[in-house]
Amino acid sequence: MAEVRVAKSAGFCYGVERAVKLAEETAREKGGCAMLGSIIHNVHVVAELEALGARQVDSVEEVRPGETVIIRSHGERKEVFDRLEQLGAVCVNATCPNVLRIQQLVAQADREGRIPLIIGEPRHPEVMGVASWSDRSVIFPGPEELEKWLLQEPSRQSLSLTAVAQTTCIRRIWETSKEILKKLCTNAKIFDTICNATSERQAEAVRLAKQKDLMVIIGGRQSSNTAKLKSVCEPFCRTCLIETAK
Ligand code: F3S
Repeated sequence: MAEVRVAKSAGFCYGVERAVKLAEETAREKGGCAMLGSIIHNVHVVAELEALGARQVDSVEEVRPGETVIIRSHGERKEVFDRLEQLGAVCVNATCPNVLRIQQLVAQADREGRIPLIIGEPRHPEVMGVASWSDRSVIFPGPEELEKWLLQEPSRQSLSLTAVAQTTCIRRIWETSKEILKKLCTNAKIFDTICNATSERQAEAVRLAKQKDLMVIIGGRQSSNTAKLKSVCEPFCRTCLIETAK
């Protein structure tokens, strides 16, 4: 008989679970609300929320004046919050506390006249949101780009810099970036902002994949976390991705 093991870290991470719960509660209390962007990359959960009266909108311009709007766990750009305020919308900010912390670090760096450096995917909504808290933010996909930037104009190495990572940044990319900052810069504050929920889940998936014959990854096809889980398991055993039991 086949032995089936469920990973201890399986399920929604704390930030996404919190956002879904806030959307559910708001939709019930207000008899409806708008979710700005996809609150979770899982079509089935989104359908359940829609049944409760939470409608998904893709841009601020689709928000109705005075409407209650849920901000997803990835967070949003500062100008989006400003625009919602202008519209008189009521914001329910479900930005994950881990992401909120990075936004605050960038805002603080800005107030102190420092330059925020963000290691992450430049087009990812979380990174675009985090960067928007300072006009001076610079985003680097990885250590090569960071090193190039620092060497291009050596005077940059003595600037006041504040470095943070996208919550889902791959550990190796962050550690190498950190080494470069420590080696080249004289005034860099470095904050490790990687979320452990993701790295722990990936590590557990790899441990299981090394012991098992088949890994079944359950998640949304649009989710980058799900895709990363599949790719870390594939080198070790047969791996398949499913969205539902059916
Ligand atoms: Fe989830 Fe928040 Fe981490 S959304 S992956 S707990 S940064």
